[in-house]
Amino acid sequence: MNFGGVVPELASRAHVRKIIPIVREALSRAGIGLQDIDGIAVTCGPGLIGALLVGLNYAKGLSLALDLPLAGVNHMEGHIYANFLNGHSISFPFLCLVVSGGHTQIVVMQDHLRYRILGETRDDAVGEAFDKVAKLLQLPYPGGPQVDRLAEEGNPHFVEFPRALIKKADFDFSYSGLKTAVLNLTREMGPEKSRQHLNDICASFQRAAVEVLVKKTVEAARTHQIKRIALAGGVAANSLLRRWMRDEAARYHMKVILPSLEYCTDNAAMIARVGLEYFSRQHYSSRDLNVYPSLRLGESC
Ligand code: KG4
Ligand code: ZN
Repeated sequence: MNFGGVVPELASRAHVRKIIPIVREALSRAGIGLQDIDGIAVTCGPGLIGALLVGLNYAKGLSLALDLPLAGVNHMEGHIYANFLNGHSISFPFLCLVVSGGHTQIVVMQDHLRYRILGETRDDAVGEAFDKVAKLLQLPYPGGPQVDRLAEEGNPHFVEFPRALIKKADFDFSYSGLKTAVLNLTREMGPEKSRQHLNDICASFQRAAVEVLVKKTVEAARTHQIKRIALAGGVAANSLLRRWMRDEAARYHMKVILPSLEYCTDNAAMIARVGLEYFSRQHYSSRDLNVYPSLRLGESC
């Protein structure tokens, strides 16, 4: 059944059902067994408490049974480290635009595991705006990929939606006004005309959402004299964001690093990649490790 979003209790139950078969399948696809593992990295926040607890307790159980070290990883640092998968390395410092269903942040990394947040959303995250706009256009959840696909065929200048805070000198974002602007437009147009112009509405919304991300990120890089920009999180899969960020950065001779599409949305490889950094520094978590649903980037569990 489609609930138009994630229902926390159902998500926790699905985690309980799936965690053992998924770990088995991951090991089998990698062609290794439990005896080949050197350490266990686990997400300890931010996120839904029930789902986090399932993962954490399973990881603790494995770590006890196999006598392996444990590392608690922040989900958002995982997203940033998706850029280091596929054997890629990035020279420091670099700036990362972290864009997901719950976060919109510009982060500076001076070195491994050191994060400084330069700016973030004051209300909705950009992924949340994609999902809410998709919902009011009666598109299935998650809405980001649907809007991205329909926007390909639409006119991005059909409506000039507001670009919140684009002229402000700081690096904060706001997306609730843009979502309301789309709602007001569809109310004015009525259901039939909105359906006829679905692609144009998607394209105009996407252009407004992405323009602010691109302009603010490049401006932050210029202000802090940083020459490398990385993208992270589910919205980093957005085709316009990837294209536009590359073009805008090229104007200022900056390099853009893009995680491969399969590692933009939530995945376990990115958490394991952060684990590697912790383990190589003998930075282990104790078995008292807990979950923190509102954990911020830079805070450890
Ligand atoms: O990082 P993620 O998988 O989960 C969270 O940590 O939130 O991000 C999910 C978000 C959703 O809001 C989804 O709509 C959005 O990423 N998303 C996209 C695209 N693919 C996923 N948004 C825009 N364009 C896409 N192609
Ligand atoms: Zn995520």
